[in-house]
Amino acid sequence: MANWKVPFYTHQRQYENLKPELQAAMEEVFQSGKYVQGPALSRFEEELKEYMGSEYAIGVGNGTDALWLTFMALGLGKGDEMITNANTFFATAEAMWIAGATAVLVDCDPETRNIDPEAVRKAITNKTRAIVPVHLYGLTVDMKAIREIADEHGLYVIEDNAQAIDGHGDTFKQGELSDAVCTSFITQKNLGTYGDAGAIFTNHKFIDDRVRQLRNHGSNARNVHSFGFNSRLDDLHAAILSVKLKKIGALTDRRVEIGERLNKELADAAKGWLRLPYVPAGYRHVFHCYVVETLDPTERDTFLAYLHDNGVEAKTHYSIAIHRQNGFPWGKDARVAGPLPNAEANADSCVTLPLVPELTDDEISVMIDVVKAYAKQR
Ligand SMILES: Cc1ncc(COP(=O)(O)O)c(C=O)c1O
Repeated sequence: MANWKVPFYTHQRQYENLKPELQAAMEEVFQSGKYVQGPALSRFEEELKEYMGSEYAIGVGNGTDALWLTFMALGLGKGDEMITNANTFFATAEAMWIAGATAVLVDCDPETRNIDPEAVRKAITNKTRAIVPVHLYGLTVDMKAIREIADEHGLYVIEDNAQAIDGHGDTFKQGELSDAVCTSFITQKNLGTYGDAGAIFTNHKFIDDRVRQLRNHGSNARNVHSFGFNSRLDDLHAAILSVKLKKIGALTDRRVEIGERLNKELADAAKGWLRLPYVPAGYRHVFHCYVVETLDPTERDTFLAYLHDNGVEAKTHYSIAIHRQNGFPWGKDARVAGPLPNAEANADSCVTLPLVPELTDDEISVMIDVVKAYAKQR
């Protein structure tokens, strides 16, 4: 169906809403004559630090680079094991392989679908150097549990918050209980530009120093180089993101409003066949994705097709867990610290309903009616 009644993304609507401010910000960059590591990037990095409450913020090319540049800055690589959950976006593990490390995949929690701290504990060996918790779908991980395990074993913790900017636990902030937080600003993220970008937040000066050098051909002075790459956040994207950062609180509030409405209004219709997103008390779930799961995995595709046939552009996040990708692990170092029943159930039964701040209340009503109609006739 080309013309969706309820579209999954509404990037153009957001652009129209912010057009004058975005165009002014872009014009300023065009007129400045400075497009790479210029003043717009420096300003955005200052704003990010302030916003996250971190000592340092470093803009990089994308969220995947943010992860592996951080791993490299920490000296993580060949022979080192890093633990994450198998039901994350592929890039979390991919970044470990790019750094040369071994990705260890563990199960997720049956309720939150975030990494299961007990599974992490069981997966630790004498080669383990880091835990990479992912704030999946917008729900911040129980960072206190992760920190406790990391302290017991002397491990680094790097948060992947590509999906959860503006999220937190009520008693802790992202970044407070870890060595670094890595994020993505690709278009569809809660804070997104018109293309690729990412950032790292940290309170460690050595990470800031090393990543700044690594992102710029190993250079922090003209013509002086050590080992590095090219992964800088362009000034044009920085200027766009500065505009959007000012709006993130309101944009997240709208996501939360829609997420809570869906959870409330779908509760009865879901009984007996559909699992709705779990929001534990004490967390700000920022609903990057509103992921439901059919209790019977064989029903997933039927439900998805019904949504599509009725104008709701649903998707899946992510229907193939990393360890089940064809040809895994492609000659890379990997270990599945299984079994992974929850991660596999998540992959087999997930359906992501559209949830973006620009959806109208009427569009949300249409979606709720479609899900209710499906529930009635199934
Ligand atoms: C959990 C997670 N980690 C890492 C990434 C990688 O970010 P990017 O696409 O900017 O490289 C993404 C998103 O794309 C993501 O969702």
